Amino acid sequence: MKEKSSRAPEPAEANAPSDAIALLKADHRSVERLFDAFEKTGDDDLEAKGTLAQRACEELTVHAIIEEEFLYPAAHKALQRQDEIDVDEAYVEHFLVKTLIGKFGSLKPGDDGFDATFKVMSELVKHHVEEEESELFPELRKSGVDLVALGEKLGARKTELMSKLEETGSKLAGDGSLSFARPS
Ligand SMILES: [Fe+2]
Ligand SMILES: [Fe+2]
Repeated sequence: MKEKSSRAPEPAEANAPSDAIALLKADHRSVERLFDAFEKTGDDDLEAKGTLAQRACEELTVHAIIEEEFLYPAAHKALQRQDEIDVDEAYVEHFLVKTLIGKFGSLKPGDDGFDATFKVMSELVKHHVEEEESELFPELRKSGVDLVALGEKLGARKTELMSKLEETGSKLAGDGSLSFARPS
């Protein structure tokens, strides 16, 4: 039998991530689930492959935008010079992921190169996620930046981008750029 909790019922938003890092890690787990599902999809199930790839590209595009708009600039400001290289590396990795996402504009499931592009993209993302979670996020947590306030900005922008995505039928292009500009 389940033990009855003596605590007051939690508000509906209790499941919302508590800070920027929690929100971004939840995004990482979500896209990893899509990668796993794609891997388990039968070779002939082109519809499932197409749906999973589209969803992964959408989630990655929104995630990259919110990191580049808020997290990476905050990291540049908060981190010591020797740790800022991790932010620049993250921009380069995003650039590569966005380039591969762009490839799906002209690839259909079943085309030569579709599975290979998805596989390389997922490997790149897994590597990038591992670096963010083992290096950049802990550095940011140590830096004393207000991660709760940052999480609110990320969450609000994410909600806005997700609804834009629905309006435009998933045609949300990231900017595809690579910039190392430091925030002023
Ligand atoms: Fe990232
Ligand atoms: Fe990330």
